[in-house]
Amino acid sequence: MRTADRLLASGRDADIYEVSAGLVLRRSRDGRSLAPEAEVMDHVRRAGFPAPRVDDLQDDGAGLVMERVDGPLMGEAVLRQPWRLFEFARLLAELHRSLGSIPAPAGLRPLGDDGDSVVHLDLHPYNVIMASHGPVVIDWSSAARGRPETDVAATWVIIQCSEIPGSPMQSALSRLGRTAFLRSFLRHSAKEAAGHVLRAVISARISDPHVTDRERRYLVRWALSLEPSSQLSSAP
Ligand SMILES: Nc1ncnc2c1ncn2[C@@H]1O[C@H](COP(=O)(O)OP(=O)(O)OP(=O)(O)O)[C@@H](O)[C@H]1O
Ligand SMILES: [Mg+2]
Repeated sequence: MRTADRLLASGRDADIYEVSAGLVLRRSRDGRSLAPEAEVMDHVRRAGFPAPRVDDLQDDGAGLVMERVDGPLMGEAVLRQPWRLFEFARLLAELHRSLGSIPAPAGLRPLGDDGDSVVHLDLHPYNVIMASHGPVVIDWSSAARGRPETDVAATWVIIQCSEIPGSPMQSALSRLGRTAFLRSFLRHSAKEAAGHVLRAVISARISDPHVTDRERRYLVRWALSLEPSSQLSSAP
């Protein structure tokens, strides 16, 4: 990384820098190797799935140089063009479906749910860039080998729990939008299959160190509200 590289964004455990006109550098803050995510990005791209092209790995894998994708995040696009909410929700479900049809490459971390597909596990509207040529999925750090419905359930939980900033009126309106988006996403997904793994996905998220205390309390209430036989309660 050169000192002139411009910081574009800071995520939970990585920073993104602009390195040249068409390339960005994703650098892990703890020096963790990003080689596994570069491999999975290459793998899904070869299968025709839209992920940024990997250009290079630097510093023992702690830096991943990839194609810079221009465009708003899907989450931003929904806020700017709320009348397209249902179209975006359906598109997110289609991205899940097409990713779920790709067999995982050898060596990809198994989730332990007996699945053999590539799962992203963070495939939500703020990890999809709406480029002029179509959607591109970023942020492959949690990718694993698993069942497609586990990925759908992960997105369900992430959207349902996302914290909404703003005035009470703004957050009430955003909550309505979030509910409509989630319903539409699930309508176009295998909701029933996802419902069966919902409890397991919520439990895994409860132990995620990145989850806030407020989110954890919400998740615990949600998990407790799920009947073991029918796990399709939409939320607490
Ligand atoms: N290939 C790319 N092209 C253009 N912008 C990108 C690219 N990859 C990431 N970004 C920008 O950097 C931001 C953070 O990227 P990413 O989601 O991969 O990181 P993260 O550390 O996992 O972040 P978070 O924890 O917030 O999800 C994205 O929201 C996007 O704005
Ligand atoms: Mg992200």
